[in-house]
Amino acid sequence: MQTIGHRGAKGHVAENTLASFQKATELNVDGIELDVHLSLDGKLVVIHDETIDRTTSGSGFVKDYTAKELSVLGIPSLESVFDLVNRSCFINVELKTYESADKVVELIKHFVLEKHWNYTDFIVSSFDWNALQQVRFLNDNIQIGVLTSTDVSLAMAFAKFIKAYSVHPYYHLLTVENVAQIQSKNFKVYPWTINEPEDITFVQSLGVDGIITDFPDRL
Ligand code: G3P
Ligand code: CA
Repeated sequence: MQTIGHRGAKGHVAENTLASFQKATELNVDGIELDVHLSLDGKLVVIHDETIDRTTSGSGFVKDYTAKELSVLGIPSLESVFDLVNRSCFINVELKTYESADKVVELIKHFVLEKHWNYTDFIVSSFDWNALQQVRFLNDNIQIGVLTSTDVSLAMAFAKFIKAYSVHPYYHLLTVENVAQIQSKNFKVYPWTINEPEDITFVQSLGVDGIITDFPDRL
């Protein structure tokens, strides 16, 4: 069973920062999960919220700051995270907006074609299934993860439709039966975000392929 560090190692270090991704790799994760938005100058930046209020000393919308300004506030570019990770684990890029899809595909293609990474070094996921459809339209090789907080059956049907790699359900939606059903269609099951030891034990007992957690050291 794989361990995927949520926003790096959010339970230990400030989320979606280079230090958090560094910590996750030190904890020997199989993968990291992160969130992307677009900056004012159209760069891919790693932050969960659409504003910078909660996680930085600044305020306002991410889209109103340049990537350089965001970097000063501790918000890394997606490219800098790829360079830091340097293939030590896979990277689950969660698209928080449809508009970031094209640029994420371009960046992944750049790392595969110019830097000799593999498509298996990445999973692109989103709750915005239109964004995932755009990723598949642009590239047949990118591994896609279908996120759902509400409906595993619908997510599985959409996963078939876009030839996804994995389904990423909110863990309370899972049962032994629906995990087995998803896997019988050859999709991986990567639920989120499981932190408490009793929840980790429960989800492990379902036979999922990996667990997205703030505390990779608890698995
Ligand atoms: O990708 C899994 C999980 O991160 C989705 O929810 O709100 O933490 O981005 P959220
Ligand atoms: Ca996320």
